[in-house]
Amino acid sequence: MVERETWATRTGFILAAVGSAVGLGNVWRFPYQVGEFGGAAFLVVYLALIALVGFPVLMVEFTVGRYTDRNPVGALKQIGQGPAKRIGWVFVTAGFVILSYYSVVAGWVLQYTAYGLQGNFATDGAAQFGATTGGAVSVLTHAIFMAAVIAVVGLGIRQGIELAVKLMVPAIILLTVGLAVYAFTLPGAGDAYAYYLSPDLGTIAANWTDILPAAAGQAFFTLSLGMGVMITYASYLGEDRNLAKDGLIIVALDTAIAFTIGLVAFPILFSGGVGVSEITEVGAGAGFIFISLSQAFANLPLGGVLGAVFFATVAIAALSSAISILEVVTSYLIDEHGVDRAPATLLVGTAIFLVGVPVAYDGGLSWLTVYDQLANYILLVLGALLLSIYVGWVKTDMGLEELGKGVKNLGAWGITWIWVLRIPVIIVLVVVLTLNAMGAYEALSGLFA
Ligand code: PHE
Repeated sequence: MVERETWATRTGFILAAVGSAVGLGNVWRFPYQVGEFGGAAFLVVYLALIALVGFPVLMVEFTVGRYTDRNPVGALKQIGQGPAKRIGWVFVTAGFVILSYYSVVAGWVLQYTAYGLQGNFATDGAAQFGATTGGAVSVLTHAIFMAAVIAVVGLGIRQGIELAVKLMVPAIILLTVGLAVYAFTLPGAGDAYAYYLSPDLGTIAANWTDILPAAAGQAFFTLSLGMGVMITYASYLGEDRNLAKDGLIIVALDTAIAFTIGLVAFPILFSGGVGVSEITEVGAGAGFIFISLSQAFANLPLGGVLGAVFFATVAIAALSSAISILEVVTSYLIDEHGVDRAPATLLVGTAIFLVGVPVAYDGGLSWLTVYDQLANYILLVLGALLLSIYVGWVKTDMGLEELGKGVKNLGAWGITWIWVLRIPVIIVLVVVLTLNAMGAYEALSGLFA
């Protein structure tokens, strides 16, 4: 067998992880969640959960990945005892399902980039969205996007992923900052910032059963946790890296970009004549950037071109995330079954494409909801919960030893991390999983009636 690959440079690893973290979660999910769950109130809870749960769980995935040098299934086979050997499957399954619909949504983003270039954003955003999200064209854009993902991952860690993210991540940062500067010049910017940035503690208290699971889910999704991406990416890492330091950079960049996207989206909405009430009604959920935002672009001078720039940014961000998910499933085939990279990538990529076809074809978003509820709200949290319990309570020594490598003096940080995992992380995740399971039951039981 060929020797297992590694990252060529430290920057390569950090950029790959940032590329994975920054994606549709930041640009598509984050603004609509802010809109749906009370503006700044959501933002505060989200930021708290990134620090309290997101970062500690990121360290869990990093330590497990680097310690074992394996994909999630192989990693857990190596360190797990008894049923814990199987936890890796939760991650790989979640990745498989999530990529299948992530790619469909990314395909719509490609389509909207084209609308922008053609100056074609409709003032009736809902009708245009309905026409985009089903049928053959949606399957085609899904196929185009998956083909790009397969091409990058097929080229390998250094020649494919590392090279791609070195171009893509700087591009995302520059474009996002540029868009924020543009948004700042718009007439509605002041009102938009006020909405986005002044938290109302009353709103948090009154709606915590909605806000908490949404914010926790978002914190996980945006940091690419619970799917084994960070296990896999850390498995290509040398022993001399300081995991906590790299993790902080990754979390900071991801959070900064999500936050900046809010500074882009809300001024555009407010200036394009789309009010907050409309954000939460018409454009709520999946339609947020596609309906509300494209409608606002349609109303702004030069909106077509600017919209195309916006959607192209989203497409690049989605690509650098999608490759990380495909890498998880591909590395499983390579490590565990000795398949060569190229055929492995093609095989899983095609399978994932096929699983996504129902989501792409059916324009009603029902399948999207099913996949999203199961993978994102249940599997993702479940995987992270099980692994946090395992590292926090059983594999404590492994975790501490691995976290300490490449660090001069870990001091009390190591044990603090373990105790954060043992109690608050587990409590939050159990509460979130319970609320999510109830929510999923509700969402799914009404769906196909
Ligand atoms: N973090 C990515 C985003 O914000 C999504 C993602 C989740 C990617 C899990 C990989 C793994 O869009």
